Amino acid sequence: MTDFADRLIAWHRSHGRHDLPWQGTRDPYRVWLSEIMLQQTQVDTVMPYYRRFLARFPDVASLAAAPADDVLALWSGLGYYARARNLHKAAQRVMSDFGGVFPQSAAALETLPGVGRSTAAAIACFCFDERVPILDGNVKRVLCRHFGIEGFPGERKVEQALWALAGTLLPARDIALYPQAQMDLGATLCTRSKPLCLHCPVSETCVARRESRQAELPAARPR
Ligand code: ADE
Repeated sequence: MTDFADRLIAWHRSHGRHDLPWQGTRDPYRVWLSEIMLQQTQVDTVMPYYRRFLARFPDVASLAAAPADDVLALWSGLGYYARARNLHKAAQRVMSDFGGVFPQSAAALETLPGVGRSTAAAIACFCFDERVPILDGNVKRVLCRHFGIEGFPGERKVEQALWALAGTLLPARDIALYPQAQMDLGATLCTRSKPLCLHCPVSETCVARRESRQAELPAARPR
């Protein structure tokens, strides 16, 4: 499936989102902040929080130096407050362990509190063109459907297979566009219920679509 990524990227150029407030930058501080906020929260909800947060903490040094209560106050309403506590800790870690300069590889980014493998990879792709796969909930759904991957994607073996598969699909170029293309496809077309296959750039090769199994893939948590 060598052109899977290229088809997503071409679709994204004409149909994806291009004006989100964190898209015009390759500043890892801004991209990191947006990815943490977007981990469990929808784009529309995140936008005003992201703007307020950046206005108060324009860089990692200002965030690291802030009292924890100020950070939590700006997070108030977004939920999942461990994210805010980890954000603050990570900013302090960037100052103490990385001389105030954000780490520039996925492997180093992943050492920061609250930054998992997929978030680290997204930041490294967006900011540094590192050729590494992402695998968030949206991407898992797209891959399970398109490639007919069986099993619950939260299960270790299935997740490992998905990481391996995702690694084989990376495009040769436009590395920084590919994660956003995947996220947008999962958020706008390959949705959990009622996916819009008629508009999908990879529907012709999609196993779930061919077998009418969009509702069965990805498999639900076993019970
Ligand atoms: N969800 C996680 N990261 C995102 C991003 N960069 N854009 C839109 N939704 C996202």
